[in-house]
Amino acid sequence: MKKHIITLPGDGIGPEIMNSAHELLKAVGEKYNHEFTAESKDIGGIAIDKHNDPLPLETIEACESADAILLGAVGGPKWTDSKIRPEQGLLKIRKHFNLFANLRPVTIFDSLEASSPLKQSIVHGSDLMIVRELTGGLYFGQPSERRDGGQSVVDTLTYTYGEIERIVRIAFDTAMTRRKHLTSVDKANVLESSRMWREIVNTVSKEYPEVTVEHELVDAAAMKLITNPSYFDVIVTENLFGDILSDEASVITGSLGVLPSASLSENGLGLFEPIHGSAPDIAGENIANPIGMMLSVGMMLKYSFGLHEESAAIEKAVNQVLADGFKTADLKIDGAVTLSTAEMTEKIISCL
Ligand code: NAI
Ligand code: MG
Repeated sequence: MKKHIITLPGDGIGPEIMNSAHELLKAVGEKYNHEFTAESKDIGGIAIDKHNDPLPLETIEACESADAILLGAVGGPKWTDSKIRPEQGLLKIRKHFNLFANLRPVTIFDSLEASSPLKQSIVHGSDLMIVRELTGGLYFGQPSERRDGGQSVVDTLTYTYGEIERIVRIAFDTAMTRRKHLTSVDKANVLESSRMWREIVNTVSKEYPEVTVEHELVDAAAMKLITNPSYFDVIVTENLFGDILSDEASVITGSLGVLPSASLSENGLGLFEPIHGSAPDIAGENIANPIGMMLSVGMMLKYSFGLHEESAAIEKAVNQVLADGFKTADLKIDGAVTLSTAEMTEKIISCL
């Protein structure tokens, strides 16, 4: 298979973990006989410094002709007070490529159970996937403005039938590849948009008789996520609820450094990135955890290229390395040997 990938390293630890992605792609290509070419472009703070634009046209054009996009992370204290912010590049690229489906798996590897802030007995066996709608709802609805000279304010939550249906379908398809248990999260006791969401989930569910579906109110789901995370398989929800629940779920593993994500569009183009930020506090020290980035490469192989075996091999290698007693500085695993970014990358690749 021949694929062209645009890599957007970004800021802080972004370039360090993107090196790990490049190494991994090279190794997977050699082992499984694929030709992956990767071309690096600017996004975020570095793009502001060089082009005065967090998402330059050159980057957009390169992504348009790519088979998939890998992103490191953007942002940092250098640009906190600047008028143009690195994070604008992220919102812009999601919107430009209509990346409406955000998939965030949260898997607790056995060896990571002890590093969770939750009790081991609670997190044991947790393996869930949050499917979040990413380009609609409250974050994009108009009007969104101050009124009456600042005495009132309005934000708007809008969805079309089609916008809800396409994300719900992705969630059902995802559930079919997993334990076939879908939890749709809403606030149907209060919001009309949630009542329509429920209706659509019920309608689409008729096409997926094997999937067990349940509806859960967002407040109840938020509690269950930390009291009984292993209860969940696939969670599907709208943009705002998904933003909050996915951050809540990410603490289950004890480190942001191990979690990947995918953002998919209807035409198949996907953007894959670790969920963490640019970690300016540890940038340049070669201690960042490359696992979130490397598992994001795994998601790219699976979701954009259909390479399930290769993707599974990456997950297995990560699990193996952790189980063998190796870790990076951010992970609390008793007795494990702490490796640098480059060493961890090499170790995972050697386990492929
Ligand atoms: P952060 O995720 O960058 O860091 C939070 C904490 O986790 C820090 O102590 C950091 O050292 C640690 N950490 C994160 N990733 C790690 C890794 N791979 N290995 C080891 N430790 C890791 O979040 P923070 O500090 O709130 O934000 C820093 C910058 O990143 C900000 O400018 C923020 O806007 C941006 N950001 C960008 C995101 C993106 O590019 N998708 C997402 C979240 C934040
Ligand atoms: Mg968030």
